[in-house]
Amino acid sequence: MPNFQLSHDVAVDMGTSNTRIYVKNKGIVINEASVLVLRANTRQSPVVAIGDSCEEFIGRANSEYRIVRPIRSGIIVDYENAQIMLHYFLTKAIGSRFYFKPRVVVTIPGLANAVQRQSVINVLGKIGVRQIHMVEQAYAAANAVSNEVKKAKATFVVDIGAGTTEVALISLEGMVASRSAQLGGDLIDEKIREHLDRHYGMEITDRIAEQIKYDLTDVREEENQDRIVVVRGRDKATSMPFTQDVKTSEICRAIHPVLMDIVGEIRQVLEMTPPELCRDIIKNGIILTGGSAQLPGLDTLIVDELGISVSVGREAEESTILGAGAMADHFEEISGRDQAGRQNG
Ligand SMILES: Nc1ncnc2c1ncn2[C@@H]1O[C@H](COP(=O)(O)OP(=O)(O)OP(=O)(O)O)[C@@H](O)[C@H]1O
Ligand SMILES: [Mg+2]
Repeated sequence: MPNFQLSHDVAVDMGTSNTRIYVKNKGIVINEASVLVLRANTRQSPVVAIGDSCEEFIGRANSEYRIVRPIRSGIIVDYENAQIMLHYFLTKAIGSRFYFKPRVVVTIPGLANAVQRQSVINVLGKIGVRQIHMVEQAYAAANAVSNEVKKAKATFVVDIGAGTTEVALISLEGMVASRSAQLGGDLIDEKIREHLDRHYGMEITDRIAEQIKYDLTDVREEENQDRIVVVRGRDKATSMPFTQDVKTSEICRAIHPVLMDIVGEIRQVLEMTPPELCRDIIKNGIILTGGSAQLPGLDTLIVDELGISVSVGREAEESTILGAGAMADHFEEISGRDQAGRQNG
């Protein structure tokens, strides 16, 4: 169908694991893996697949193809491929024949430094974006899950993604206190891989590590009705495939340090909270967002450790893009005004 809209206001959330694009008046139109498959050793265009269409290549070792993830911990680590990927997604979202260039609200992790922020601006500039407004991911997530970010009330949000955990206390549209750390689903998967390697000499794929995580019913091992999961992998020494029975309590113990580090990040922001906002936090609790917020029992673990109520936001994985999208819906209002509070604890 022809697209008669001349200009587009768009929000982009380039996550470590997933890229999401929101288009004003349409909602989320892209939600795909942040990944490319490139053909190795070729002079022609090496791009074989981008986004979800890479699925069939992932986990299949093949010297002909290279799997590239241009975003790590929310930061662009492969500039050229990030640009190819984003151009592809943006074109898919709004079409290639736009006359006026789009205006973009783009999310950024709090831990990104000035150079890393600039490289996001450069990538968007190269693919023809006219105006860019940057927003920290925790602020965007809070904007989606709370209608109080503009008020003098406190909103406490924790966005736990694949690469980063973003903790922020927001009041009057500003970040009162925040932390951003390289903690998330990828590190949890890595701990599972490390455990199987160390205890069983077994190598497993990223996909299998993630699947073991999905199969947990409660991350608090004492609550866990210990179950056995059958894990498929390769013998580290012989490369022969084999299966191993593994107890879920072992997995919970292996990932526990990462979860406690997440709790530690939350605790630090709570300690920075001005006394006048503490009442709101005790009353409203902490809101978890991001894909890893869905880890079963993580909410209860945080309640047990910190004694503050915790809820998991609706559409946890999409909070950041929905909050940034709500800002793109009012681009005139936000443009010219830099997002309040870039300070990062
Ligand atoms: N039901 C679930 N249980 C546990 N983990 C989950 C679940 N669903 C998704 N995840 C994890 O959530 C992560 C993806 O979340 P999300 O899409 O919020 O990350 P991202 O935005 O790409 O990353 P980041 O914001 O850190 O750059 C992955 O690590 C995935 O394994
Ligand atoms: Mg994210």
